[in-house]
Amino acid sequence: MAPVNLAIIYYSATGTIHALARAAAEGAEKAGAHVRLRKVAETAPPEAISANPAWSQHIQDTADIVQAGLDDLDWADAVLFGTPTRFGNPASQLRAFIDTTGPLWFQGKLADKVYSAFTASNTAHGGQESTILALGNTFYHWGGIIVPPGYTDPIQFQSGNPYGTSHVTGDGAPGDVPLDAARHQARRVVDTAALLKAGRAA
Ligand SMILES: Cc1cc2nc3c(=O)[nH]c(=O)nc-3n(C[C@H](O)[C@H](O)[C@H](O)COP(=O)(O)O)c2cc1C
Repeated sequence: MAPVNLAIIYYSATGTIHALARAAAEGAEKAGAHVRLRKVAETAPPEAISANPAWSQHIQDTADIVQAGLDDLDWADAVLFGTPTRFGNPASQLRAFIDTTGPLWFQGKLADKVYSAFTASNTAHGGQESTILALGNTFYHWGGIIVPPGYTDPIQFQSGNPYGTSHVTGDGAPGDVPLDAARHQARRVVDTAALLKAGRAA
């Protein structure tokens, strides 16, 4: 059977979500998927970015990562979205990308794919779950198959968020636990998408 195509589509200003996205890509590749790691377009004004050295630096460091396009969604059997929490919601940069998907949605091309999401916030109760659930609203509209990590692996009892991998950025860069949780989440998404793909091919 053809491998699962997984698109990991993310926004990251200062690198946290980027680190989780890379770990997810590792987990998915190990599970046999073809992976496209894609950042969404930056929409913030240059003066806001240049006022934050970590933000400017991250943009330079990830200049080689291809920008997400609608073709990536069309190609994918499964999509993992990553976004920082912004006042308990997904970042506007990711929403801006999602808001371009109308033509695919209208043709039914976003339905029946597997979707899952991960996030980071500065504080432990800063809106991680609400951010992931907010993305879920879109997945429902698309007719997606939402695959959360739940407590399906021992790592989930350490990372502690059944909705999706989450990291508290205020504690520093993601360490082994959130990175392993991201790998697990990606593997679970790929395994589920593989079952669906095999079933459809049969
Ligand atoms: C406009 C804005 C709103 C934010 N809102 C929240 C929030 O509601 N809760 C929280 O804990 N952190 C909040 N943060 C912190 C970010 O979630 C945190 O910096 C982010 O997870 C880092 O991810 P990144 O390194 O991938 O950019 C906010 C940051 C900005 C700039």
